[in-house]
Amino acid sequence: MKKKAFVALIASGALMMSLAACSAGGDTGAGESGASNVGGGKLVGVAMPTQSSERWIADGKNVKDQLEAEGFQVDLQYAEDDIPKQISQIENMITKGAVALVVAAKDASAMTTVLEEAKSQDIAIIAYDRLLTGTDAVDYYATFDNFLVGQQQAYTLLNGLGLTDLDGKATSGAPAGPFNIELFAGSPDDNNATFFFNGAMSVLQPYIDKGVLKVKSGQTDFTVVATQDWKLENAQARMEDLLTANYSDGSKVNAVLSPYDGLSRGIISALTDAGYQVGQGWPIISGQDAELDSVKAINAGEQYGTIFKDTRDLAAEAVKMTVAVLNGEEPEVNNTTDYNNGKKVVPSYLLSPVIVTKDNITKALVDSGYYTQSEIG
Ligand code: BGC
Repeated sequence: MKKKAFVALIASGALMMSLAACSAGGDTGAGESGASNVGGGKLVGVAMPTQSSERWIADGKNVKDQLEAEGFQVDLQYAEDDIPKQISQIENMITKGAVALVVAAKDASAMTTVLEEAKSQDIAIIAYDRLLTGTDAVDYYATFDNFLVGQQQAYTLLNGLGLTDLDGKATSGAPAGPFNIELFAGSPDDNNATFFFNGAMSVLQPYIDKGVLKVKSGQTDFTVVATQDWKLENAQARMEDLLTANYSDGSKVNAVLSPYDGLSRGIISALTDAGYQVGQGWPIISGQDAELDSVKAINAGEQYGTIFKDTRDLAAEAVKMTVAVLNGEEPEVNNTTDYNNGKKVVPSYLLSPVIVTKDNITKALVDSGYYTQSEIG
């Protein structure tokens, strides 16, 4: 359906709701389930990258539930990190008559043709968590402050090494080092990966320049430290190589910058296989997403911290944006400068990420209802 017709439909729905609200004790305008009927049963396509990581399963569920609560029908698809599969899933959503697409791309720049097809049919397009690049078809972007995520990953490491607090403020009497550090970045086809890495390096580079941190392998270039497809196995294999090539002389790696919990788990396996033991010179390791296994690893002292990004809040933001665009309104944004996708600066709403270490697991993850205490163990 074209946007204009949809606006009319929403307007008539709103009118019905306000009329209903006037009728004493009557229908509230809610659907049978008590949900709002803003969506009027229209279809929204939700394209997620993979089910191989918990966070995207939570994202998909949260976006679907929240759209359904607004009265939309939802076609939720996972591409399992397969680019042609994600393109054909989106093509299918267009064919089925979706009025909006919420897309977390496997590959930021590979969706241009299908998105332009959607745009030509007046379908609203929201980039979800990951920017869609190389096209002006994308309307808005809902995400977290990705540069800050990277900075927070670096603060996590510095804090674990006793150099700063979790805001990056230098600790008095901090050790002089040098500490050996190795660096990992995310998948090069994900626009977030460079934001995370640049954010982290903006904090770490001065410490490297001062000689407090030493990248023993010398590998500091994004292209060299990137992890294709965000795959655990790729990070594990690279960590094994780094240990063999640079730490066979009895020296130890003291910190590892990891941009995602799944990679941290691969890095932990490589360290364990190489004979490292928790409590005996075990390195400080960062992460992202607060995945359940990694929260357990933080409790066990294997991982020092993670970055928690509440997928319920991100879903709510994306749903708000979708409804606003379909209503012909401008959604609230808080960043109109940082996310240039090569064709336009995409108006964005950035949510705030939270550092989680052993000290605030309960406060951040249990009190907020993200996990139950028994899940964490
Ligand atoms: C997300 C991260 C996630 C990574 C791997 C990124 O685009 O922002 O939260 O860890 O993808 O799935």
